[in-house]
Amino acid sequence: MAKAQASQNAQMDAIVALCKRRGFIFQSSEIYGGYNGFFDFGPLGVELKQNIKDAWWQDMVHRRDDIEGLDSSIIMSPKIWEASGHVGGFSDPMVDCKVSKMRYRADQLFFSPVVVNGEIIGYVSILEDGNMVATAQAAAEKVKRKQGVQGKLAPIKLKDYTEADPSQYELIPSPATGEPGSLTPPRDFNLMFETKVGALSDSTAIAYLRPETAQGIFANYKNVVDTGRVKIPFGIAQIGKAFRNEITPRNFIFRSREFEQMEMEYFISPDADWKSAHREWIDWCKNWLVSVGLPEEMLGEDVHPQEKLSHYSRGTTDITFRFPFGEQELWGIACRGNFDLTQHQEHSGKSMEIFDEAAKSKYIPHVVEPSLGVDRVLLAILTAAYTEDEIGGEKRSLMKFHPRVAPYKIAVLPLLKNKPELVDRARTLYGKLQRKFNVFWDASGAIGRRYRRMDEIGTPWCVTIDFDTVEKDGTVTLRDRDTTEQKRVTEEELLAFLDEQLF
Ligand code: GAP
Repeated sequence: MAKAQASQNAQMDAIVALCKRRGFIFQSSEIYGGYNGFFDFGPLGVELKQNIKDAWWQDMVHRRDDIEGLDSSIIMSPKIWEASGHVGGFSDPMVDCKVSKMRYRADQLFFSPVVVNGEIIGYVSILEDGNMVATAQAAAEKVKRKQGVQGKLAPIKLKDYTEADPSQYELIPSPATGEPGSLTPPRDFNLMFETKVGALSDSTAIAYLRPETAQGIFANYKNVVDTGRVKIPFGIAQIGKAFRNEITPRNFIFRSREFEQMEMEYFISPDADWKSAHREWIDWCKNWLVSVGLPEEMLGEDVHPQEKLSHYSRGTTDITFRFPFGEQELWGIACRGNFDLTQHQEHSGKSMEIFDEAAKSKYIPHVVEPSLGVDRVLLAILTAAYTEDEIGGEKRSLMKFHPRVAPYKIAVLPLLKNKPELVDRARTLYGKLQRKFNVFWDASGAIGRRYRRMDEIGTPWCVTIDFDTVEKDGTVTLRDRDTTEQKRVTEEELLAFLDEQLF
């Protein structure tokens, strides 16, 4: 178990190191020591991210007849957040350690009594991770040893801190100090970032950075209905930044304070079978994840129990992904009923009803919402793509990105940089390819080294221009990243191949 954990940590460390080394992701404000919960995307990261968003937009909006796009403002009237319930209820339970001044999310801090021969001899605590049961059991053994107690240690039973009885707060050790007595009771902490709009600095100027893009969709739903030709069922999709003052941003870009969401609200009739609409969207989302390169066996489903549903939800299923730090939520698919539109109708006084031509009736539609974090799916894609293998006895690390999301689609390599006839021919091909794809130019270094550089950043193909190209038949060498196989193709064959692969 400990071995598996070490190798998962090593994988995560290798991904983070590669992201920095090759310019995918940097810590925000790094020159000032970093800024917790914020990240910057470098030259390769921005391409990867853009390709993910483009793939989603193409499949969700362009390739469907029933979904329209939207781009609403980040800062909206605070009344929207009052109506949606975010001002009153968008909070996570937090707990402070009075000694270390560390702050934790109470639902991610787990504890268990240490029970020997049926008697509680102490408590252990642990922060949520994929391997916490084994780690907590080992910690319980240690408590028993330290106290010199003989007898049978019961298996630990983990609960999160929100489930603790108030009498236990004083007894549970802080994860920071290992000692009990310093943890506060859980308190609600609102995750919205506040800002001020306009010249006044009193409470009337308070506004919020949006914590989800969804409310921009609900606030514009009537505009889309009135100006477009939408008919129930239909959807409105949006990609954009969201901000949450997360208590414990962690696991690299998995949970950050500034991130992007790709959300779609699918409006259905109140009489529609929302459970089957929900299922259809879960399946659609899973298929989409597989289409951008996530192996199906790394995906799972987590059905939220009724008592843990968000304030707006009547049913939520998360598609989960096996990250190096454990299986975690990747894509939330929630049935929001007509909660949001009803709230906005009540608070704004504007009707949110739609006339359903087919049913000849007027109603406030219900909603199924697939909501995916761009940064989170990017991390899943990095995780799935990261591979180490051996080629001709030499170790190599490569990113097996699906060609659709790979930052560069192909690299053009003249065999020798000091042979103008090779370089000129390669430059001409490079120019041709550049009109359609993001192409990498690399003329320096041994050809094997150049291939490795491309493997490491996940470029699916390399094309080499050599003396046969200029002196014989004009063919080029096309090399595949994953198999390292090479074959000679004509320029026409190369262009046709790329068009077919990069749909
Ligand atoms: N509109 C519904 C909504 O925002 P959510 O479950 O809070 O629901 C949806 O978020 C998705 O947004 C999550 O499944 C995740 O992919 C992403 N997400 C949420 N919080 C995030 C954070 N702090 N950092 C990165 N991604 C986040």
